[in-house]
Amino acid sequence: MSYDVDVVRKDFPILSRILPNGKPLVYLDSSNTSQKPQQVIDAEREFYEQHNANVARAIHTLGAEATEAYEASRATVAQFLGAADEREIVFAKNSTEAINLVARVLGDAGRVGPGDEVLITEMEHHSNIVPWQLLCERTGATLRWIGLTDDGRLDLDDLDTLLNERTAIVSFVHMSNILGTINPVETIVRRAKQVGALVMLDASQSVPHLPVDVQALGIDLLACTGHKMVGPTGIGVLWGRYDLLESLPPFLGGGEMIEEVAMTGSTYALPPARFEAGTPPIAQAVALGTAVDYLTGLGMDAIADHEHRLTAYLLEGLSTVDGLTIIGPATTVDRGGIVSFTLGRLHPHDVGQVLDEQGIAVRVGHHCARPVCVRYGVPATTRASLHLYSTTADIDALVAGIEHVKRFFG
Ligand code: ALA
Repeated sequence: MSYDVDVVRKDFPILSRILPNGKPLVYLDSSNTSQKPQQVIDAEREFYEQHNANVARAIHTLGAEATEAYEASRATVAQFLGAADEREIVFAKNSTEAINLVARVLGDAGRVGPGDEVLITEMEHHSNIVPWQLLCERTGATLRWIGLTDDGRLDLDDLDTLLNERTAIVSFVHMSNILGTINPVETIVRRAKQVGALVMLDASQSVPHLPVDVQALGIDLLACTGHKMVGPTGIGVLWGRYDLLESLPPFLGGGEMIEEVAMTGSTYALPPARFEAGTPPIAQAVALGTAVDYLTGLGMDAIADHEHRLTAYLLEGLSTVDGLTIIGPATTVDRGGIVSFTLGRLHPHDVGQVLDEQGIAVRVGHHCARPVCVRYGVPATTRASLHLYSTTADIDALVAGIEHVKRFFG
């Protein structure tokens, strides 16, 4: 299955933008946030125009319509991720909140305590580092790290010592937001299960680009975020095995997460309501369902295939630039369309600025994954990232743009 990218691009109004300097937009920052198709924009607008009401609280017609749309979106996401049950889908603000939720409640539940270990990797986004650091500070557990090889892969040589009977949870990124590496989930899950550890996957950068099936992967928990999935900002997803979610205490307290409230204490609703205190991002959740339908309509295999071919083209294009060094895997094997690089001694901020003057949007900096920059001895990188709507023309513009940057700085 494949799709015509030129037809698909017509769904994304922003992709035909002309920037204030007269340059057409070349958007290569989709790992930061993806652009949105008209269908998603319309879904959010239509919710506010036709159905807006609070969910699970109002008995009037609009309340019923809003609740139905919100729960239908939950079912859509559940099916998309291969969840066993839609009650396993908790709507959160983003991946960051989903991971913080888990790190907080595992500690509160006593599932992580003094003497326990939490295992993460050196290629994590800060949102899959700091919540675990906070958990370890609160509980007296120890944070341990899987290191990286020189070519941007996880170094699994000492996995047998890093994973032991003290490991309470392993939390790692599926596709690195800075290196583009796709990690061997099955291998890590198999080893983690041998020592009885939970496994959480940060799938922020994989779910929008690859088929992901939580049951086939054998993981326990997963976080992903709507705004990278051609959906709205302000909506993310925590998926968890139902029996695990049911065994965990609430994260935030408030409306709709309770069973009964008395002045002496409260009891809590079953998941997912237990973890959705307060009025949720309703319109955003509804439009996320539309975004998932959009991805499914193109087909995740077709999206992965399109991006795989473009990643090869991007790596090849960048390899023609003298003085450019790719930070991360140099081939398309087990890597996605996220490519970080340095350009001689030029600072990435200068590179990004001169690219921006040509209409080319990339991200520069440490990409909220500073340990990776430290590991590879660079203060920052320039990063180009692809999505289902990216084209070879975008990549040609980038490569020409980088040559211009080199000429600009002499
Ligand atoms: N938004 C973050 C990035 O750009 C996660 O990688």
